[in-house]
Amino acid sequence: EKKGFIFDLDGVIVDTAKYHYLAWKKLANELGFDFTLEQNELFKGVSRKRCLEILLEIGKVNASREQFDRWMVEKNKDYLDYIEKMDASEILPDVPRVLEFLKNKKVPIALGSASKNARPILEKVGLLPFFDVIVDGNNVTKAKPDPEVFLIAASNLQVVPQNCVVFEDAVAGIKAANNAIMTSIGIGDSNTLTEANYNFNDFTEMTDDFLNSLLQ
Ligand code: G6P
Ligand code: MG
Repeated sequence: EKKGFIFDLDGVIVDTAKYHYLAWKKLANELGFDFTLEQNELFKGVSRKRCLEILLEIGKVNASREQFDRWMVEKNKDYLDYIEKMDASEILPDVPRVLEFLKNKKVPIALGSASKNARPILEKVGLLPFFDVIVDGNNVTKAKPDPEVFLIAASNLQVVPQNCVVFEDAVAGIKAANNAIMTSIGIGDSNTLTEANYNFNDFTEMTDDFLNSLLQ
């Protein structure tokens, strides 16, 4: 039966979490409070709007609708300044090997990300041609752990959800994959991603044999 593979972007394909962090930290500091790396963990897989809501809660800052929107734009502008300088060297280890492996097997590949910047980032690092389908923050109304993003990806890949495999680094993302009844593969700390069907610290740990077993 036909299989499909779905990749999250931030933290799975590229390590952009550090740039999100720097941009949020700058805004927090401007508003007079600090934003820690630990707090940044809560922002993984979470939409830009929701991140700003959480940030303002942390700083106990009230904002008008207009001010809120201005800060959203400012944060994204700062984030894009980092993205602008990205190149292929920022692809996480062995991601190209896994993508090549799947391409050689003619397995369709999708991106399933909450980011509205997904396309330019894939373009910057040169991985856009690998993706048959891109579903990102511009295409969804419900955030992970809602399965919407992955279900749209599966539908566009024309693969039933049960035959889809999802790579995710965020707790909310693993939940979203499980909610979609897909095979969930955690990329990162197994103590954090406890609900994943399988877990790897990174793609260097994932053998061709394992990938083949997913295609059975
Ligand atoms: C990903 C990241 C989140 C980020 C979200 C929206 O899910 O893990 O940290 O907030 O995308 O990204 P965007 O590029 O649209 O601001
Ligand atoms: Mg992620």
